[in-house]
Amino acid sequence: MASLTIRIIREEHAALAAMLRSILLLIEQHRREATQPDFGTLRAMLFYVDEFPEQRHHRKESALLFPKLRARTPLSRDLLDKLDEDHARGEHLIRELEHLLLGFEMLGEVRRDAFERAAQRYVDFYLNHMALEEREILPLAERVLTARDWADLDDAFAANRDPLAGHDPQPDYRALFTRIVGIVPAPIGLGPAGVGAAHQLS
Ligand SMILES: [Fe+2]
Ligand SMILES: [Fe+2]
Repeated sequence: MASLTIRIIREEHAALAAMLRSILLLIEQHRREATQPDFGTLRAMLFYVDEFPEQRHHRKESALLFPKLRARTPLSRDLLDKLDEDHARGEHLIRELEHLLLGFEMLGEVRRDAFERAAQRYVDFYLNHMALEEREILPLAERVLTARDWADLDDAFAANRDPLAGHDPQPDYRALFTRIVGIVPAPIGLGPAGVGAAHQLS
């Protein structure tokens, strides 16, 4: 049974994947050109990842979707445990990455490698995490959850949607999202064509 929840999860994954790839493209471009990135831009991008996917998207999964799945089926318990652990680990890793970026900004070249390596690891980690959810968990949810489960989930998932997945940001977040949308390439954002073209190839 297709549901609004499944659509929201897929849209939020696509928005996060686009953001993560944009972060890597930005970093690679500055490494190639031996220039320093605009640290304010990178801070805004990492802050978004910390604020929306980490604090909201993953919490909705761990607090709402996964418990309903555990209640309906003994299947995939180990995988759900692993994904819950990923959510906790991700919150820690994004803070660490924000700190490593600050180190690069404050101390310069000597800290570039550590930041770049951690950014690559974080992006790989989350792309794998989301792929696993889409391949294993969403199809399982479609098989075992009831109409009542979906109604509960749809209300909760629709309540705080990710502005980068095409929804109006709350007033407090408007300035941040205007800034971010200018960086991330289409179709998620309105970023420069060059970055968008590179994104298509990645
Ligand atoms: Fe997740
Ligand atoms: Fe997810």
